[in-house]
Amino acid sequence: MAQLHITGGQKLEGEIIVSGAKNAALPLLCAGLMTDETLTLTNMPDLSDTRLMARLLANHGLDIDFADNQITLGGAATQFDAPYDLVSAMRASVLVLGPLLACYGQARVSLPGGCAIGSRPVDLHIKAMQSLGAVVELADGYIQARAPHGLKGADIMFQTVSVGATENAMMAAVLASGQTKIINAAREPEIIDLGECLNKMGAKITGHGTDIITIEGVEKLHGATHAVIPDRIEAGSFMIGAAMTGGALTLRNAKAEHLSALIAVLTEVGVIIRHGDDWIAVDKSPSLKAVDIETAPYPGFPTDLQAQYMALMSVVDGYARISETIFENRFMHVPELMRMGADIDIEGSLAIVRGRAGGLTGAPVRATDLRASISLVLAALCATGTTEISEIYHLDRGYADLEARLKMCGAHMTRTTDGG
Ligand code: UD1
Repeated sequence: MAQLHITGGQKLEGEIIVSGAKNAALPLLCAGLMTDETLTLTNMPDLSDTRLMARLLANHGLDIDFADNQITLGGAATQFDAPYDLVSAMRASVLVLGPLLACYGQARVSLPGGCAIGSRPVDLHIKAMQSLGAVVELADGYIQARAPHGLKGADIMFQTVSVGATENAMMAAVLASGQTKIINAAREPEIIDLGECLNKMGAKITGHGTDIITIEGVEKLHGATHAVIPDRIEAGSFMIGAAMTGGALTLRNAKAEHLSALIAVLTEVGVIIRHGDDWIAVDKSPSLKAVDIETAPYPGFPTDLQAQYMALMSVVDGYARISETIFENRFMHVPELMRMGADIDIEGSLAIVRGRAGGLTGAPVRATDLRASISLVLAALCATGTTEISEIYHLDRGYADLEARLKMCGAHMTRTTDGG
């Protein structure tokens, strides 16, 4: 097991190039199942999650080449089972369901695992496939789905906004006969990116980025080349890190338009932010105050930045109410931040954070999920003394080359493995 040792007190200063978005990359990789021609994805982040998805797709029979932040996928799927050991390691693996059903009329996909943030059901994914005419059974921990005569376009009405279910429904509907409307669709930039890539492959999708997506089914998709959008969560995490350490950081390959909720809140907090077409800069920000937030589907404040924002609120003036509306059990970072001196009370889905003028102090802490891990890294960067973060494999799921990039900006951190 690896640990990170971070000695705080250094300002994050300089430039960071933001990676391609993990959450855009994973569904785009699954789109590679939908053609036997070559799909080339550039700006691909080299992460344990993207490598795991590549393994899952190779297991389905695709030819995959991953080098220099580019993946090419080619060939046809030859087997339609997504096994427990691969799917349980990453929840997004359930995104092979729609493509396999649409292209091959069959899929057997293990019920997923992933971050331990609440129960995270897949009922919406299953209902979407059923709306398109698939016969779905749950047996032995697997989703078994069949559509021997192909899928049929239909209206799919989601009761809850779900990013993954919207993506699965889009991919399935692209090859269904006739028209599909996805109503109450997720509007995240990653959904737009998937729609753009599928359209390059020959799909007929309109309305992606709004809450009604319309899809005219086509017979077949073809190969394409597509660049993954920049990772807004990575960019947001670094922005918060710059603010917490009192630094000044410029992020290249960053899209401010994808981060408007965070930028609005941080500006109210007192963080000085400038941005252009493909960059965002956080300037030295002399005084910061607490501001309440509530997480919400895009374009609201992202749940994936809630833990990082809570770390920031732990070290500013005043107290903030942080309300998590997307996932239950997404406060697992709280006891760990409290070990570093943060003053936080939890009441159900509400966290009340009292900022500590004296700041945080280094302590041994445990990473519990991907975004919790980065919040601990940010807390450690501005704490007095050294913090040892264990179970950092979570970080490697979503942040490429994190230490090297933060060290270039002044962070003092090292990675050790047990006994090392
Ligand atoms: C995606 C992101 C994740 C982010 C989340 C919310 C990827 C790979 N992951 O996860 O980083 O935190 O969006 O922005 O893109 N739900 C159901 N039934 C379902 C599916 C979801 O009830 O079948 C619920 C979930 O429990 C949750 C809510 O819907 O309460 C939103 O989840 P969803 O948008 O589906 O999250 P993911 O796509 O898994």
